[in-house]
Amino acid sequence: MLREFIENDIPFLVEISNECFGKDYLTSNYFRLIQASTTLNCWVKISANYLVGFIVIERITDQNLNTNFHDENGGINEFLVTQNSKKTILIKQVAVHPNMQNKGIATELIQAFFDTNKYESVSYISILWNRNQHNGLKNILSKMNFTCIKQVENFWQKDSLEKKYLCAECKSIPCVCSASIYYYTQIT
Ligand SMILES: CC(C)(COP(=O)(O)OP(=O)(O)OC[C@H]1O[C@@H](n2cnc3c(N)ncnc32)[C@H](O)[C@@H]1OP(=O)(O)O)[C@@H](O)C(=O)NCCC(=O)NCCS
Repeated sequence: MLREFIENDIPFLVEISNECFGKDYLTSNYFRLIQASTTLNCWVKISANYLVGFIVIERITDQNLNTNFHDENGGINEFLVTQNSKKTILIKQVAVHPNMQNKGIATELIQAFFDTNKYESVSYISILWNRNQHNGLKNILSKMNFTCIKQVENFWQKDSLEKKYLCAECKSIPCVCSASIYYYTQIT
């Protein structure tokens, strides 16, 4: 079952995030912020009564465009402005409990958002963490016809210094991981 998250889910969301992204990358406060937000949404996958994965998306508006990306050198904001898309959705985070990976859960969560927008012209953007061990969402998004528009070095450097989280991949503060920016436009 997929559903929007509720208050009681927050400890489980934080636990999955700690395992998947590194401790304190996403906090309880982050999920409370989503509850109060008009542009952020979080959906969860429930399997046998356990919360096993989640997706966070954000509708990009003119107002939040400049606050969304730590992107001084990346040019992502400029790219989005030039696309002139009526509706752009940022796939912010997708995480699946390590014991439940490779069962199609991330694909199902992303597809669910595609389905809710299938009669509209929507663009999707996702900032993918370049990891050594596995390639995260790259294969999944490539199969959904996303293309890589850019690589950005040290993408989370500023973010990790501000929030002081220890990255699960590079295990350093500041984070030295790079990002691949994936983009897809659905024209109806
Ligand atoms: C990246 C991540 C979200 C993927 O979740 P997942 O549920 O394992 O993803 P899926 O099962 O949908 O897809 C993974 C693979 O299984 C395949 N798959 C899809 N449906 C499947 C099914 N029903 N049964 C088995 N495999 C399936 C997919 O094709 C994909 O194959 P490939 O990438 O080897 O080509 C998960 O590994 C994770 O949480 N990683 C840590 C956090 C992270 O890096 N998040 C992404 C950045 S925000």
